Amino acid sequence: MVLQVIARVPAKINLLLAVGPVRPDGFHELATVFHAVSLYDEVTGSSDDGVSVTLGGPYGTRAPDGDENLAVLAARALARRARPARPPGVRLGIHKEIPVASGLAGGSADAAGALLVCNQLWGLRLSDARLAIVAASLGSDVPFSLTGGTAVGTGRGERLRPVPVGGPLHWVLAFADGELSTPQVYRRLDELRAERSAPVPPPAVPDDVLAALAAVDAPALAGLLHNDLQEAALALRPSLSDTLRAGDELGALAGLVSGSGPTCAFLARDDAHAAALASGLAESGTCAGAVAVVGPAPLGT
Ligand code: C5P
Repeated sequence: MVLQVIARVPAKINLLLAVGPVRPDGFHELATVFHAVSLYDEVTGSSDDGVSVTLGGPYGTRAPDGDENLAVLAARALARRARPARPPGVRLGIHKEIPVASGLAGGSADAAGALLVCNQLWGLRLSDARLAIVAASLGSDVPFSLTGGTAVGTGRGERLRPVPVGGPLHWVLAFADGELSTPQVYRRLDELRAERSAPVPPPAVPDDVLAALAAVDAPALAGLLHNDLQEAALALRPSLSDTLRAGDELGALAGLVSGSGPTCAFLARDDAHAAALASGLAESGTCAGAVAVVGPAPLGT
C-alpha cells in the first residue's frame, strides 16, 4: 500500500493572453498560450483519515489553510468522484515557492498536485482526461497545471492543446509586494472596455507565436508577447510600470505582466542573460525579488 506520494507542480506564465467578451456564465472567452516555468510548489500526500493541509516554504503563510485551500477542495472533489464505501483521506503538505495571488497560478498548481497525489495514494487510476474534468471544476488554470509544458488554452482556459517548443526559453520573474485579485483585474478590464465602447474581437492565438516557439526564436517571440489583462493590472497597480521599465532598461528582450499580475515576466537571450537580468531587477528597487527560470517546465515527481 502506498503511504506517501509527492508531486512537484510548476508555476505558469501566459505568453499570450487574448481576452474576449464576457460570457453568460460570467467568465471571459480566452485564447492563451500557457507556459510552465521552473518555479515549483511541492505537494506531499500521506494517508490519513480526513482531509487536511499544512503549508510551508517562503509563501506558506500567505495561502489559506483549511477548507479554503484549493488543494483541500481538489482532494475533496476527487474523493467524491471516487465513490468508495468510505471517503478516502489525505494529509497534504505544501511547500510553497510560488507566490500567492501573483498571476503565476500557484493555487492551481497546488490543486493539480493534490489531484495527482490523491489519484495515486488512493489507487484510483483515473485517466488524465478524467482528472482534467475534475481540474476544470476547480478553476480555469488547474487543467493546465496538471500537464505543465506549453499549451494553447481556449474556452475559459480549460480546453488545452499542447504546443511543441524546440528548446529551452530563459525568463526572469519579478515578484511584487502584495497580491492582485483575478476577478478584480477582469472587472477592471471590462470597465476600461466599456469606457472605450469598442467591439471586443474574438480572442485568437496568432500562428507566428506558435512558429516562434517551435523555432525557439526568442527575439521573434519577444515582439509577439501580449497580455490583454496588462492594462487593467497596471491601472490597479501603477508601480508595475516601473518594474517593466526597469527590465527594459536592463536589456530584457521583452517584458509583460504575467496573467492577472502582479508578477512581471521578462524574456532573456540565454541563461547568463537571465541571471544578470534577475540580479539587476532585484537591485532596481522596483520589485520584491527576481528569479531566473526556464520554460517549458515539465511536472516533477
Ligand atoms: O477560474 P478561476 O477560479 O481561476 O477564475 C477566477 C476569476 O477570474 C473568475 O471568477 C472570473 O472573475 C475571472 N475569470 C474570467 N474569465 C476567465 C477566467 C477567469 O472572467 N476565462
